[in-house]
Amino acid sequence: MSDVGPTAVIVLAAGEGTRMKSRTPKVLHTIGGRSLIGHAITAGRAASPEHLVVVVRHQRDRVVEHIVEFDEQVVIADQDEVKGTGRAVECALKRLPDDLAGTVLVTMGDVPLLTGETLRGLAAAHAESGSAVTVITASVTDPTGYGRVLRDPHGLVAGIVEHKDATAEQRLLTEVNSGLYAFDAAFLRSALAEVGTDNVQGEKYLTDVLAIARARGLHVGAHLVDDLWQTEGVNDKVQLARLGAELNRRTVEQLMRDGAIVIDPATTWVDADVTIGPDTVVHPGTQLLGATTIGADCVIGPDTTLKDVEVADGATVVRTQAELASIGAGATVGPFSYLRPGTQLGDGGKIGGFVETKNATIGKGAKVPHLSYCGDATVGEGANIGAGTIFANYDGVTKGRTDIGPHSFVGSNSVIVAPRTIGAGSYVAAGSAVLKDVRPGQLAVTRAQQRNVDGWVARRRAGTPAAAAAQAAQTASAASAASDDSDATGMPQGPDPKDATA
Ligand code: UD1
Ligand code: CA
Repeated sequence: MSDVGPTAVIVLAAGEGTRMKSRTPKVLHTIGGRSLIGHAITAGRAASPEHLVVVVRHQRDRVVEHIVEFDEQVVIADQDEVKGTGRAVECALKRLPDDLAGTVLVTMGDVPLLTGETLRGLAAAHAESGSAVTVITASVTDPTGYGRVLRDPHGLVAGIVEHKDATAEQRLLTEVNSGLYAFDAAFLRSALAEVGTDNVQGEKYLTDVLAIARARGLHVGAHLVDDLWQTEGVNDKVQLARLGAELNRRTVEQLMRDGAIVIDPATTWVDADVTIGPDTVVHPGTQLLGATTIGADCVIGPDTTLKDVEVADGATVVRTQAELASIGAGATVGPFSYLRPGTQLGDGGKIGGFVETKNATIGKGAKVPHLSYCGDATVGEGANIGAGTIFANYDGVTKGRTDIGPHSFVGSNSVIVAPRTIGAGSYVAAGSAVLKDVRPGQLAVTRAQQRNVDGWVARRRAGTPAAAAAQAAQTASAASAASDDSDATGMPQGPDPKDATA
């Protein structure tokens, strides 16, 4: 057998999922940052079929919209009003070529831990054994609700009986149908035509196809999977969380095997598509979500949430919330930083404590170290934005951009009112409200000149602790000036004359 891969994978996702008690269709709930149906499609694709079909019905339009966004090559099959897994597969086959040959795999849209590797194993075992059907079975301690695998006196699979249709004796069987199968395509099509709806649920059961195979003298194989997580479905939100935690455990374990250092896997939540380079240390309480990619030798966390963030090698990101941002090599972010979409921090740059950024390109080695809002801005290479600087990007009607030239220096507690350009290598004095552009090399100062009014506290705040403290300091400095007049610092300092020329 040269090619044992499946011709088609059919994913069943038409059911209502009432036990989820949710307005969201069951298969659109997510674990590891990916919908349940997304997991099913990913596993199906990994088996490299020619066709991948998803059967839909419940909340059809919402589900289809999501599927097409996830994988536009998926063939959508609509199930009609006839109920049951057998009917679902029949509807899928109608969307495939009439002369479809080879192996058809059937999986479920709500079994998210199933891997492509397991599906490939199923297809290979099926092809090798020459069976008409091969079903993945599992031995479980509580088989309630599952279809039971019936075996003949030779131990061969004779059929499957649904829990609801089973006798008390059959219900004692603990080998269950996982709902994952490989079929010979031509056999599947002809057998489904024979399946009726004469059962407790009045549904067309896919499982009836197994007994039909035996009746035709064909072989039915059982493929045992030890890893029960891979066959477990999501029926309610308790299972959703349970499988979500297990998926996370597996994802984090794989990342560690690939070289990441994760201090506390239990409090580290990582989505399925995230990558982390070797020797990056991930501290407790970290969430790495969406399409986040982290380079090598980084320090991430503790208590950090990154969604769709790109972090280059050697960066440090501590106690930070960031989304759709990129952080350059060797850059540092946090603690307590909030990077909103469109933030790009250059190599060796810094976004420090209590800084919020949005649509901001902060150049190589540039620093926004403390207590700032930096929105709709470009900060040139090597620039330094002083503590408490606010980029006033919104005038109540429109948003404006701020452009800070390379190696310029913005003094603390300045407000830069956009749209504004601060030229290369220029300075803004601390406490300025910048309303005019600044040309390269200029100093901008907008604050009023400082006046120090002698004796004001003594006159206007007599009897206060401030007045007493001032009095004591003046007495002490007068005494020291008398004893050592070479170090007379008791004079109140006037404004720096160089700062007062603008
Ligand atoms: C099914 C199997 C059962 C197996 C169990 C494993 C049948 C008759 N029974 O039972 O032997 O132990 O799965 O979990 O197949 N679906 C459709 N269209 C439908 C009905 C269901 O697409 O008309 C889809 C659902 O969306 C779901 C899957 O098929 O993804 C299974 O449906 P569900 O109703 O959960 O089947 P079970 O009763 O659990
Ligand atoms: Ca089920």
